[in-house]
Amino acid sequence: MGKIEQAWSRGFSRREALAGLASFLAASPLLHAQRDPWPLGPHRRFLGFDEMRDVFDFEPIFRANVPLSIYDYTAHGTESEFTLRRNRDAFDWVQLVGGGGVDPADVDTSTELFGHQMPSPIMLAPTSRQRDLHPDGELGMHRAATTTSTTMIVSNSSSFQFPEIAEAADGPLWYQRYATRQMDPNREALDAGLEAGAQAFVVTIDQQASYYERDLHVRHLGGRPRQVQRRTPRNPPNPYRVGASRLWYEWTLFDDLRPMIEVPMLAKGILTGDGAKKCLEHGVDGIIVSNHGGRALDYGPSTLEVLAEVVEAVGGRVPVLIDSGFRRGADVLKALALGADAVCLGRASRWGLGAFGEPGAQKVLEIVNAELKQAMASVGAASLAAIDRHIVKTNFP
Ligand SMILES: Cc1cc2nc3c(=O)[nH]c(=O)nc-3n(C[C@H](O)[C@H](O)[C@H](O)COP(=O)(O)O)c2cc1C
Repeated sequence: MGKIEQAWSRGFSRREALAGLASFLAASPLLHAQRDPWPLGPHRRFLGFDEMRDVFDFEPIFRANVPLSIYDYTAHGTESEFTLRRNRDAFDWVQLVGGGGVDPADVDTSTELFGHQMPSPIMLAPTSRQRDLHPDGELGMHRAATTTSTTMIVSNSSSFQFPEIAEAADGPLWYQRYATRQMDPNREALDAGLEAGAQAFVVTIDQQASYYERDLHVRHLGGRPRQVQRRTPRNPPNPYRVGASRLWYEWTLFDDLRPMIEVPMLAKGILTGDGAKKCLEHGVDGIIVSNHGGRALDYGPSTLEVLAEVVEAVGGRVPVLIDSGFRRGADVLKALALGADAVCLGRASRWGLGAFGEPGAQKVLEIVNAELKQAMASVGAASLAAIDRHIVKTNFP
């Protein structure tokens, strides 16, 4: 073999040269930067609408649909997110026991709250800014709720005004408010809500401070510039990392609001029996046991752990609702067994709306309701009246 032939035989073939270039590009930090930093968990491809089996199936689709900051705003909890995790862990500490013998088709989940008939004890928790999740926002959520005969609680910080949401469908609505210290704005908001047909008012008292450490690097939250302690006359600076508008709540707030509210008034954010008793002393008509889905005070208990204490303190005088961490029908059943009258879904409904708009929100509600019927049939409870402490064994740490 001559010199030139030898050089050719030792040199790169065209195929080797292309393979070399491809490996270089694959390892290049430039291409790496294009990769999705949040791969779709266990899924190798997007599941389609008809493949949604449980509520968790909706979350990765929602995450893929929206900018990361919008996903994060829904997902995150306060500080170390201990309470966020504990809300879910708590369901592992409650076993369902009992005996079958009931066909799910014969299960009746209907109930009554404040004189209104409801086909199911599952409701929608108030959650803010739903147009960030899908252009239909609260209008789509209300239509989905109406189709499934679900009562929806509209957030104080909704993307659409309450009357507009009420116009979108004719299902039952409640109205949630973060009360202001000056009573006039409360009066105006409550009047507008009543005029538009709100069946009840929910006064949220728990979100005193919210601090999502995981979002510190994010300069836009929910698609808008991050608000860090804006110094305005209405929102003066304070050392507590949250606007002053929510720092003043006292029990007497309910005394001030009560005369303005002609419909039932509920307190949202109660986690102790003593807190529930205070509410009753101050004219509250219903309690929502909630830690804001792990977005209020971190290192507090899960709501499921404290539910029985609150129910006992209330002693049947007013309805007790619960939220925070509920994703499955079996979760709902556990809360009903521990004494809740109804259960509200927060993130679960946002995942549905964010994944597929109105049909997604509807499907989430259908799935959890079907799961509840299935779980009730499995423990042998044909109606809500047949659910009691005997169908659960608790093992809270
Ligand atoms: C993104 C987001 C926004 C929320 N906005 C409000 C709100 O405006 N008013 C309110 O009372 N609660 C709000 N909450 C709390 C919910 O009403 C509810 O307590 C919580 O979502 C229940 O926990 P879950 O998301 O695990 O179901 C919000 C929760 C989330 C996740």
